[in-house]
Amino acid sequence: MASKRPIGYKCRIASVLLLLLASIAALVAVAVIQDKWKFTQYSIQYGIVIDSGSSRSNMYLYEWPGEKQNETGVVTEVLNCRVSGTPISEMKVDPQQDAKSWIGFQACIDNVTKAIPAEKHKNTPLFLGATAGMRLLHEKDENRSNEILESLKEYLSSLPFNFQNASIISGQEEGLYGWVTANYLMGNLLEKNLWNRYIHPEGAKTVGSMDLGGASTQIAFEIQDELQGPDYKHVKLYGYPYNVYTHSFLCYGKNEAEKIILDKIIQGAYDPTNIANPCYPEGFNITITASSIYDTECTKKPEGYSPDQKFFMVGTADSEMCRSIVKSIFDFKTCSSSHCSFNGVEQPPVTGDFKAYAGFFYTARALLMNGTSDLDQFNASVSKLCHTPWTELRKEKYWISEKYLKTYCYGGHYVFSLLADGYKFDKETWKNIYFEEKIKKTSIGWSLGYMLSMSNMVPSEVKEIPPLTDPVFAGLIFLFSALTIITVVLVFIIFIRTCY
Ligand SMILES: *[C@@H]1O[C@H](CO)[C@@H](O)[C@H](O)[C@H]1NC(C)=O
Ligand SMILES: *[C@@H]1O[C@H](CO)[C@@H](O)[C@H](O)[C@H]1NC(C)=O
Ligand SMILES: *[C@@H]1O[C@H](CO)[C@@H](O)[C@H](O)[C@H]1NC(C)=O
Ligand SMILES: *[C@@H]1O[C@H](CO)[C@@H](O)[C@H](O)[C@H]1NC(C)=O
Ligand SMILES: *[C@@H]1O[C@H](CO)[C@@H](O)[C@H](O)[C@H]1NC(C)=O
Ligand SMILES: *[C@@H]1O[C@H](CO)[C@@H](O)[C@H](O)[C@H]1NC(C)=O
Ligand SMILES: *[C@@H]1O[C@H](CO)[C@@H](O)[C@H](O)[C@H]1NC(C)=O
Repeated sequence: MASKRPIGYKCRIASVLLLLLASIAALVAVAVIQDKWKFTQYSIQYGIVIDSGSSRSNMYLYEWPGEKQNETGVVTEVLNCRVSGTPISEMKVDPQQDAKSWIGFQACIDNVTKAIPAEKHKNTPLFLGATAGMRLLHEKDENRSNEILESLKEYLSSLPFNFQNASIISGQEEGLYGWVTANYLMGNLLEKNLWNRYIHPEGAKTVGSMDLGGASTQIAFEIQDELQGPDYKHVKLYGYPYNVYTHSFLCYGKNEAEKIILDKIIQGAYDPTNIANPCYPEGFNITITASSIYDTECTKKPEGYSPDQKFFMVGTADSEMCRSIVKSIFDFKTCSSSHCSFNGVEQPPVTGDFKAYAGFFYTARALLMNGTSDLDQFNASVSKLCHTPWTELRKEKYWISEKYLKTYCYGGHYVFSLLADGYKFDKETWKNIYFEEKIKKTSIGWSLGYMLSMSNMVPSEVKEIPPLTDPVFAGLIFLFSALTIITVVLVFIIFIRTCY
């Protein structure tokens, strides 16, 4: 009799303890489930960036899982809409042209609007960034560039989205944001360790970034030394510091460079009604209006310039001559530092892998040199393209429109000279250039990096993410809680059996 009471007492204590444990487990489970509910509510988020370049505007729609917003490589491109009509730097000249441009904007906005669930519209940030075309206009006619931006702001803020800003971004920002985009998409910036903590990937290397637009070109890459100067940027991403060299060359985009080259060819000719153009293929001829070459800050108007003057050019397909004309638009002599690219611009030696996108990619693709290539191969393919007669070229490269096809002889020489003579890529380092348009189906360009930086999605510091917000971790906790409850119930049953 005396031995039975302590057993019953112990049994009751044990039962209470077990119940307590069970309720704790249940609580944890509920907390986890609630957290999950919150996830589904905020799931996908969206952001819109309009890239207003010198030849046109492009509208990009991005999406990402809301709870992962601060991770690297999770943002993807959903839609890339090409705005028809004139580029924004040519607005406010002709009302009829402007009307077409607004229709172009609205067409893309319609598509973007359809792609975002209506309840997310007001939380979707919208940015517009204008690049070299507007930088040039700002130099030439500040009032008009301000007017254009004002009317764009007015239009964009009338849309159902969370409009942030429309502004001209500087060449250095453009270079740096392109570098952020490439490295963000490659997942170079952040890694999660075993304990679900964000860390800087050990021994991680970043990739350099090279952008070739219509009116400017940018290079950006990480360097080891902390050098000082306007082209050396010190940025902190996810708590880790980087030294990035970046430079933007205004007027050295593909279209403006072409104008400088055409001017050189015209200056060297005797008869404007019959100009031999070594950069055009055999069998090709064209009449060019003076204003299309000289109505820019990048070329100097000749004496007695008349905008309507016509130049007749005949292709002579002289690759060597074209090469030397292209090379002559760079100044390789002026340099007050130990290393320069061109035009007296200091640049440390290129190191590491590079992504070469936009115009670099299109040119390489026309030469069938996309992806990685060999310096000599690339050089040889340029000569080959220059020497192919026009009729043959059109058949061979039927997938390129004639408007662009006629530019690839000079374009190939231009890209080759810019990279080899300008940036000083040699036989070894050339192999590290990746001519690519996209990473993980998302276009490489400044726009994604710009949005990430403006919305603080690549913060300079990372907060430690509490483990429960990770769905996998939460799932595991949930599983363990369930197991605990089952075990507790079983143990309880066994206890009751032994007690009585
Ligand atoms: C991302 O990081 C920024 C800056 O640290 C912070 O303000 C923001 O709340 C974070 N967002 C999420 C979803 O963790
Ligand atoms: C909008 O989307 C439709 C259907 O996908 C497409 O046919 C159209 O070209 C798009 N509009 C623009 C301006 O890209
Ligand atoms: C620019 O606008 C300001 C006032 O807004 C005016 O005073 C100035 O003359 C304008 N400049 C040109 C070049 O039109
Ligand atoms: C918009 O951008 C301009 C130029 O970068 C800046 O001066 C201005 O403060 C920005 N406005 C807002 C509301 O962020
Ligand atoms: C210019 O090209 C056209 C065909 O594109 C050809 O008919 C014409 O003869 C050419 N003119 C000259 C002067 O080469
Ligand atoms: C180069 O481009 C062609 C045509 O777009 C494509 O089929 C090929 O896979 C690309 N090569 C590389 C290495 O990216
Ligand atoms: C490219 O090829 C041409 C001959 O076609 C040659 O003269 C030139 O030196 C080559 N350039 C380089 C950097 O190898």
